[in-house]
Amino acid sequence: MPNRDCLKCHGEVTSFLEQEEHKDILKELTHDEIVCSSCHNPIHVEQE
Ligand code: HEC
Ligand code: HEC
Repeated sequence: MPNRDCLKCHGEVTSFLEQEEHKDILKELTHDEIVCSSCHNPIHVEQE
């Protein structure tokens, strides 16, 4: 899944934006240069 699909839901939530881990790489993340799943894998555990 491309990053922009993740960012449709997570791009504006503070829990995403406030992560120190993300701040350094935010530019790369928004340009698909680093895939979310390189760190988040599996991504979503099935939600009930
Ligand atoms: C349709 C909307 C939607 C999309 C698309 C989406 N997510 Fe989520 N994501 C959610 C919701 C809702 C939660 C649960 C609410 C919360 O914990 O904030 C969540 C939770 C998470 C969590 C926290 C899980 C945890 O255990 O607390 C991570 C990490 C995550 N998503 C990463 C991603 C990644 C990476 C992608 C793209 C591959 C992605 N999400 C795509 C809606 C979405
Ligand atoms: C360099 C590794 C890395 C990349 C790449 C990365 N993340 Fe994260 N992310 C983390 C770490 C570390 C945390 C904090 C630890 C945790 O909560 O699992 C985190 C936390 C989150 C959370 C909050 C989870 C919570 O419990 O509230 C969300 C949502 C999330 N990431 C989404 C994304 C999305 C969407 C992308 C791609 C646009 C992405 N991440 C790319 C490392 C990364």
